[in-house]
Amino acid sequence: MPDLQLDPSRLPAHVGIIMDGNGRWAKRNKLKIALGHRAGTEALREIIRNSSDIGIKVLTLYAFSTENWARSQTEVDALMALLLEFFGSEIDELHAKGVRILILGEKDGLPPLQRQALMQAEQRTAENRGLKLNIAVNYGSRAELLRAARLLAADVAAGTLSPDAIDEAALEARLYTAGDPPVDLLIRTSGEMRLSNFLLWQCAYAEFVFPQTLWPDFTLADYHACLMQYQGRARRFGGRQEA
Ligand code: IPE
Ligand code: IPE
Ligand code: MG
Repeated sequence: MPDLQLDPSRLPAHVGIIMDGNGRWAKRNKLKIALGHRAGTEALREIIRNSSDIGIKVLTLYAFSTENWARSQTEVDALMALLLEFFGSEIDELHAKGVRILILGEKDGLPPLQRQALMQAEQRTAENRGLKLNIAVNYGSRAELLRAARLLAADVAAGTLSPDAIDEAALEARLYTAGDPPVDLLIRTSGEMRLSNFLLWQCAYAEFVFPQTLWPDFTLADYHACLMQYQGRARRFGGRQEA
């Protein structure tokens, strides 16, 4: 249900969320780490649903970074299993709500079952026009920027792009987020205050909110508190005009 205090005309068009704190939540509750991640997916459902209901245009979630392969095989396996489970159980409802799913990141680096499930979710929802849900899996912003640079270079080498024509729009068009508005609001839970290789380009003028809440405990009320904080910020974009 929409929060009455929120100004619907001043919602962020694009919200990015670094869902952090599953490990600490598991530890705090004396549970195995996989159960922390599972609890995290529960929190996720509500946030996605509500974003769609209140009219957020783009929601980008950081699910698995290029650096997260450094975790134990057991934890990586648990995360990969949850990914499959999540798509299996959610895709019908998301599709019915008109959600369009796009995976940011290198799908080729994922196990075959996961790769297939993610591609199917993208294909099935490709024509939807509701909330655009970007899920960053095997994603790193540096890798994304390198990929864009390679795509630009390939077009130059093929003679279809002149180096002088490389502007911000040309680079942006080669990011996974091509066509999306820039991130307006970046939320990272668990009190950590860093980007951890998430949407470096897209967050150039984002407002940052760092709630202390661990991700599995993140409720709709917490989410709306972040949106309220965002609505209280003066965005200047380098100018002098107060928002
Ligand atoms: C975030 O929770 C989920 C992923 C990185 C996939 P963490 O597992 O990083 O939780 P903490 O930071 O250890 O508490
Ligand atoms: C960032 O969280 C990645 C995701 C939430 C998927 P991490 O927990 O992996 O980041 P660091 O290692 O604390 O920077
Ligand atoms: Mg973490």
